[in-house]
Amino acid sequence: MVKIRNEFARDIDARETLLDRVWGPARWQKTAERLREGRKPAEGLSFIAEENGCLIGTVRLWRVGAGPARPALLLGPLAVEEARRGLGTGTALMQRAIAAARRLGHQAVLLVGDAAYYRRFGFSAQKTGALWLPGPYEPHRLLGYELAPGALDGARGLIAATGRLAPMPSLEGVIAGRAGADTAVRHAA
Ligand SMILES: CC(C)(COP(=O)(O)OP(=O)(O)OC[C@H]1O[C@@H](n2cnc3c(N)ncnc32)[C@H](O)[C@@H]1OP(=O)(O)O)[C@@H](O)C(=O)NCCC(=O)NCCS
Repeated sequence: MVKIRNEFARDIDARETLLDRVWGPARWQKTAERLREGRKPAEGLSFIAEENGCLIGTVRLWRVGAGPARPALLLGPLAVEEARRGLGTGTALMQRAIAAARRLGHQAVLLVGDAAYYRRFGFSAQKTGALWLPGPYEPHRLLGYELAPGALDGARGLIAATGRLAPMPSLEGVIAGRAGADTAVRHAA
């Protein structure tokens, strides 16, 4: 049975391994990654899907500004283990993430992804046309969802990271290649 739960520190290695398997090193080149690197996810908004003790899915949300003075969340990456797809796990992760964001009082969620998948959760490019990301992207894949009606009305400007900074690895740790430094970097991912 698949269980959706909050991510804990002990899940980080398995989550990173899953993301490496799904996208390979190309994941670090995504423009959305520029809004996540060096930051912590929004409080209480990192989720995993677990089946028989194995991590099979992941989704996180990140604090951003959708233009000036308009707090929002950026969702992603969303991924499910290839062999476990088509069974509703992606949907369960999305529903849990959106419900939690709403409960915590967030106003809107943005993401870069396929409208063909995300429209079932209410996402569209209707109000994201005057927003832009800090790097190349396909505008029709920049999607938004309002948790509060009208939250993206008139949204305009650069989408910028506003989340808490992740701890930097210590210089000694980097030089020595110690596990502690690695952990700090992986927290930031
Ligand atoms: C997208 C993803 C998370 C969906 O996970 P999942 O557990 O298979 O999702 P669900 O079982 O809830 O939904 C499966 C449905 O979504 C559809 N779907 C999956 N990816 C899709 C896409 N990119 N575009 C349109 N439909 C898509 C499937 O065809 C299936 O359709 P059906 O319900 O009509 O059979 C998973 O396919 C994945 O990890 N893909 C690789 C990473 C990725 O693309 N992440 C999203 C970034 S855009």
